[in-house]
Order: sequence, then structure tokens, then C-alpha cells
Amino acid sequence: MVDETSIFIGASRKPDDSYQRAEELLLRYGNRHGLVTGATGTGKTVSLQILAEGFSNAGVPVFCADIKGDLSGISMMGEAKDFLVKRAEQVKLDPYQFQEFPVIFWDLFGEQGHPIRATISEMGPLLLSRLMNLTEAQEGVMNIAFRIADEEGLLLLDLKDLQALLANMAERADELSARYGNVTKPSVGAIQRTLLVLEQQGAANFFGEPALRIADIMRTTRDGRGAISVLAADKLMMNPRLYATFLLWLMSELFEELPEVGDLDQPKLVFFFDEAHLLFEDAPKVLIDRVEQVVRLIRSKGVGVYFVTQNPLDIPEKVLAQLGNRVQHALRAYTPREQQAVRTAAETFRPNPDFDCATAITQLATGEALVSMLEDKGVPAMVQRTLIRPPSSRLGPITPDERRKIIAESPVAGQYDQVVDRESAFEILQKKTKEAQDAEAQAQQQNSGGSRWTIPGFDDVLGTGNRRSSNRQTVAEAAIKSVVRSVGSSVGRAIVRGILGSLARGR
Ligand SMILES: Nc1ncnc2c1ncn2[C@@H]1O[C@H](COP(=O)(O)OP(=O)(O)OP(=O)(O)O)[C@@H](O)[C@H]1O
Ligand SMILES: [Mg+2]
Repeated sequence: MVDETSIFIGASRKPDDSYQRAEELLLRYGNRHGLVTGATGTGKTVSLQILAEGFSNAGVPVFCADIKGDLSGISMMGEAKDFLVKRAEQVKLDPYQFQEFPVIFWDLFGEQGHPIRATISEMGPLLLSRLMNLTEAQEGVMNIAFRIADEEGLLLLDLKDLQALLANMAERADELSARYGNVTKPSVGAIQRTLLVLEQQGAANFFGEPALRIADIMRTTRDGRGAISVLAADKLMMNPRLYATFLLWLMSELFEELPEVGDLDQPKLVFFFDEAHLLFEDAPKVLIDRVEQVVRLIRSKGVGVYFVTQNPLDIPEKVLAQLGNRVQHALRAYTPREQQAVRTAAETFRPNPDFDCATAITQLATGEALVSMLEDKGVPAMVQRTLIRPPSSRLGPITPDERRKIIAESPVAGQYDQVVDRESAFEILQKKTKEAQDAEAQAQQQNSGGSRWTIPGFDDVLGTGNRRSSNRQTVAEAAIKSVVRSVGSSVGRAIVRGILGSLARGR
């Protein structure tokens, strides 16, 4: 019934509700992105699960966020429950086989999976500013911070590097303002305070090394199945901004690291963004534009992006237009706004003369959806009322013990578990400060005639006046030396790779 060039999704039905035919997602259009929508409890997560299973079986690695923990069951063998077996019969899934999938659990907080980290420089000023909800003026200062880091060879790896740099900038505010424009103590101070809040929310875990290697989410098993990376996102959801920023960062990293491949037989990687509305809520226009750009361009890198959200209206129109493979579960239509949403959702489909799309959307049962996949030449197929197939893996969450076991046996076990804190901005600036203090102390000593003793209240009068400026030079020299030293080491990573920023520059 199903060949290796497609994923079986379920069975569409005729107007009289009898079996019509198998509905499939063509793997060669897997990178043309997709959308899974529907009200709470209508079957979105299960649809995501069966799609992820299908991609994995085809050898395509998958990355997905697990918002409620109920996607974790994909790592375990399913069980023959009555309603699942019945559904399998309805969609003519024969034989209905159970399977466990190769899952790697990840967690930004390092609790429910391997820690997943990025460095501050990888994150870049745009995403950081968005993460911290900075004002335009503050964002300007953030940009300057990254420039200074570049120019002075200061590696920005973790939050304390950024803190140290900002503190240093506050001290040099006048000098920096003259060189780069407005860098005021209050604006730097405001960013520093936001950074503290971020730290308290647990973001400190996320910034640092070892940073995620993209190759680790693109693994396949020896038997040719794609690894499914499941990001534990329940705690992450309490900080939607971090969630959104992280996902955007990951997409941009992929965009920058993967080569151009054009159209392939199947995608190289597929992403599922659950609760995708969080990516766009209160997002400034420039960021939405970037997402739109990344989604559009990442296709040619063989990456498919599937958004999962309640309502298609959650997704900006320009992004929505690029999502070729659609699964629309039931929507409620009580309020006028909901009715409008249903109409809008219905209008996005290529109509089927057999039924009225808007009416059907409100009548769909659980695990049933309006489905339209891209068919030949990448044209959307006529929309079909489709019963979604049951998963082969477990429906629902796994136990903490099961999770621990999978984490311990994972191919990346031990690789990310320990934080590595190498010399970066924080250490360098600390050293500089110390050198400056030492120089000062030395000068002081000379000023007071080499004696350890000073006369209280008389020190200044005793002639520091002229010495001060030469002191400053010493400090500056020390700073330059230290920069030169670090430039020699590993500035490569500190060069702001721009991420989303570089897209703006490059294209
Ligand atoms: N394809 C299916 N086959 C069999 N049962 C299904 C299917 N889809 C959904 N169900 C049933 O419906 C329940 C709810 O589905 P699911 O968790 O996917 O909803 P959801 O849209 O993700 O809800 P929420 O918005 O609350 O996350 C499942 O636990 C399962 O019992
Ligand atoms: Mg769900």
C-alpha cells in the first residue's frame, strides 16, 4: 500500500463515510514544510507523532519539541489498545505493527535530557535582544557590545562573559560613546539588569559550552532510521521567549551550517515546532521577516519545518504561504472570531466538491483531519476528510525511569553533560582589571616614595596629579597586550556570525 517514497498518514473517506484511499506525504516534498492545526485535544500531537515516525522510518532525522511530555512515548513500543486497533482497521493499516523509535532526549535545563547549549556569540545580538525584550536603544548598545567583542577579541560564551563586557562598557561609556555613538551608563545598566532576570529564569544553563553540534541532531541509526530528537519543553514553555529564541537560533544554525542541496528524494532533517504561536506572539516585524526568510531559504538545505498550533491565524501570512503539507484538525466556532478563523482556515485549502470545508472543520472527530499534501509538481492536493492512522509507538508519556535509561544509553551520553568553562571575555576582563589595579597600586607606591605608608588625606596633594595620566597609559597598554594575546587564541568563534543577522547582510 505504501512505498518508501511517502509516509502513510491515514485514509480519506467518501461523502458516505466509506473508505476512499490512503493519504500520504510525499517524501520528496517533505522539505516544502507543513502545518498541523486544531483545537485542544483534537489529535495534533498524535499527528505529529505519526509524521515523526514516518520520517524516522524513512531515514530522516527529526527534531521536535515536547510541550506536555506526551510525545516522549515515541521512544517506546506501542500497545494494542482497542481504539487503536479499531482505527488501524478503519484506515486499512495492515499489518498494524508496533515499534519503538531511536530517541535522543534534550533539555535546555539539562533535567529531562542532555543539556542543549549555545554560546552568546552564536546567538547573536538580534536574537539576544529579542530574548531580553530590549528597547531599540538598548538593542543598539547590544550591537555595539558584539562589535567591541569582535574588535577586542573577547570571546562571548556564557552570560557571565556578557555581564563582564557590559560592566566594562559601563566604565568606558564616554570613550565608547565617542567612538560608536550612544553608549550611556543607564542603558548599559538596564541591559545588565535584564540579564540578571534572564539568569534567574534559568537561562544561564543554556549559554555556554559545549554548544550543540548540529551533527548530533542529524544522526541516523545503523539500521537506517532517523534519530528523533525530543526536546523537553514543559519547563521551557514557562519562558516562551526563551523557547522561541532557542528554536529560531537552531533554525539559523542549520541554515548557516548546512550546504545548499536543492531538491532531494527526501529531507535531510525535519523540524516540528509545537505551540508555534509562541514564535510570533509580540514578535517585532523585523524578526517575523527573518523567520519568513529562514523558512523560505532553509528548504534548499533539505530541511522541512512543520508548525503545530491551534489556529492557522497564529502564523503570519507570509510564513503560512510557505507551508505546503497541511493537516487541519477540528476547530470550534462559537464566537464570531472563531467563526472567522474557521473560514480563514477553510479558504487555505484547495476545495473538494464533496463537502463544505468550513462546515467540515467544525465537525471533525478526534484524530480526524482535513488533509492536503503536496502532490505532483508540488501542487496542493484537493482537501480530503481523513482519519489519521494510529501511532506504532506508545501513546502518551514515558516514566522517569524509562527516560533515564534512554538518556544513559544515548549516542551523545557524556558529551554534553559537563559544562566546559574556557578562557573568554569574563576571565580576560577580570585579568585586565587586575592588571590595571596592579599598575595603579604600583604607581601609588611610586607616588608615595616607595613607602607602603601614606599620609591620610595627603596622598592626592603629594603629587598624584600629574602621574594619573601616565597611569592611564599603563592601564591602556595592559589592555592592548591582553587583547593581542587573546586574538592569537580563538577569536574564530567570537566573530559574530550574525545568525539571522548575517542573512540580512548577505542577501
Ligand atoms: N490518529 C489517532 N488515532 C487514535 N487516537 C487518536 C488519534 N489522534 C488522537 N487520538 C486520541 O485523542 C487524544 C488527544 O489527541 P492529542 O493529544 O494528539 O490532541 P492535541 O490536539 O495534541 O491536544 P492538546 O492541544 O491538548 O495538546 C489522544 O490521546 C488519543 O486518545
Ligand atoms: Mg498536544
